[in-house]
Amino acid sequence: KVEPLRVCVTGAAGQIAYSLIINIANGTVFGPEQPVILQLLDIAPALEAMKGVEMELYDCALPLLAGIVLTTDPLEAFRDVDYAILLGAMPRRAGMLRKDLLKANVGIFQVQGAAIDAVAKKTVKVVVVGNPANTNALVCSHYAPSIPKANFSALTRLDENRAKSMVAVRAGVAVDQVKNVIIWGNHSNTQYPDVAHAHITRDGARVAVEEAIKDEAYLHGEFIKAVALRGAAIIAARKLSSAMSAAKAVVDHVRDWHFGTRSGEFVSMAVVTDAHAAAAYGIPEDLCFSLPLSIKEDGHYEVVAGLPVSDFARGKLDATVAELEEEKAEAFAHIEYLAAVKKAE
Ligand code: NAI
Repeated sequence: KVEPLRVCVTGAAGQIAYSLIINIANGTVFGPEQPVILQLLDIAPALEAMKGVEMELYDCALPLLAGIVLTTDPLEAFRDVDYAILLGAMPRRAGMLRKDLLKANVGIFQVQGAAIDAVAKKTVKVVVVGNPANTNALVCSHYAPSIPKANFSALTRLDENRAKSMVAVRAGVAVDQVKNVIIWGNHSNTQYPDVAHAHITRDGARVAVEEAIKDEAYLHGEFIKAVALRGAAIIAARKLSSAMSAAKAVVDHVRDWHFGTRSGEFVSMAVVTDAHAAAAYGIPEDLCFSLPLSIKEDGHYEVVAGLPVSDFARGKLDATVAELEEEKAEAFAHIEYLAAVKKAE
């Protein structure tokens, strides 16, 4: 008998969760033999909506769904979990600056990090999706000191999938024939979608993407912009942010982290940089930075080192490093400010 995995999803009443949860509970993420217990967290005003999601989960009649916990208490939501998928965050409202969003969200990820530290399995793997995802993940990891830093990640797989799909269309191949596109840095406009190490397979032959799409002006210009601004284009069209594709990206991210990547193939995840990552690409330590990773079957990953970095790429990496350092400084300054206010009260 296979023991169920406990999977926490926060923001469980929200729109990404609505597309994601079914894929966790029906075997798409963890395979057809693996039962799961879903531990769903949202805030009190969303409890009723979350109950509706629970009713629908029962109505899906899912043989792998071994239990459901619905709660508004992080200490209950994260208890004994193997995976924590953090979608829940304060949404960005019209006129709100990225800085304001950051301030609104650091408190949430501080509290949830501490709760994960207190009650989750020490082997828990954490995926932060709520924006600003990289810095939220970094904050979360800082407040969960008993969990290895390597177990915290932020989602950049949606950016990777967007980039792969654009390459596939341009090169005239199916999307699964595009491999090793990298997203570097922040899940924001400074991200660097990089095809310099990517290839496609056409008629059985491997072709570098830069050979298949012989258009440097496009690959260094319009392509990068289109990937980075895709989220905004979807909001403009749907009047809602991407949810179906975000959920699919979470599925890909978690499945690859659980089962590993194929030999010679890598995927991008934003992870907390250590000395090895820093040395490989000249990135400061202790930033949550999207990098190419190869993941082993046991879930341990390695940063793919030794890829040559062109002058163009260096400029892009430095820009996204600068933004993440600024976000980190702002986040921790705001946490200190909140602590000082609390102390004064
Ligand atoms: P949504 O607004 O539909 O749902 C968010 C849910 O989180 C709501 O039900 C809300 O009540 C809940 N929530 C708020 N504060 C919470 C807290 N402290 N604890 C638990 N739950 C809480 O948003 P949606 O569309 O599901 O997106 C979720 C997040 O994902 C947003 O921050 C969005 O910006 C981000 N996102 C990130 C992407 C990425 O690639 N990294 C892609 C798309 C969205």
